[in-house]
Amino acid sequence: PRNIFLSRHGESQFNVDGRIGGDSLLSRRGLAYAHALPELVRNNIGDAPLTVWTSTLQRTIQTAAELPYPKLTWKSLDELDAGVCDGMTYEEIEQAYPEDFANRDEDKFNYRYRGGESYRDVVVRLEPVIMELERQENILIFGHQAIIRCLYAYFHDLPQADLPYISVPLHTVIKLTPKAYGCDEARYTLPI
Ligand code: F6P
Repeated sequence: PRNIFLSRHGESQFNVDGRIGGDSLLSRRGLAYAHALPELVRNNIGDAPLTVWTSTLQRTIQTAAELPYPKLTWKSLDELDAGVCDGMTYEEIEQAYPEDFANRDEDKFNYRYRGGESYRDVVVRLEPVIMELERQENILIFGHQAIIRCLYAYFHDLPQADLPYISVPLHTVIKLTPKAYGCDEARYTLPI
């Protein structure tokens, strides 16, 4: 059976600083994740063919850098666009845009950042990625928190309202094995 592997990029400098969006590089811990991945993936996939998909952002490309498989970058896998809030901390957003901050809390799936996107927008832009995923064999995707939530919710058929709250820890590869109905799942967390 084929597998779909989902992972966030390794810890980035913005993750360390508590800032959202941006295009920062991996932290030391993030680089350690990238370095540990080849062995984890090889142990899982053996000699079976695998293709690695990343976003166009440096942190996913860096995470995939040491993996010896064909790679493809997708703009559609870039993180949810936080518009005017890109690069801010949640505290700064609450200060600068208190109403928006409350609205997001009220309906996180539909809330659209000023000049940016909502989770609903991201679900729509991921449609071509999902169509291609359905045609492929083993794929390993390095995405971002919101992106992995959307893909995970699709494969487990989870409700929209729950989607923005799905827990997707760093330094963890989620292995999904589609069945006739639903998916089997295994998780591998690297002790980084
Ligand atoms: O903090 C990492 C991050 O990927 C941000 O870039 C992004 O805005 C955020 O997570 C998405 O998570 P949430 O929708 O919970 O704010």
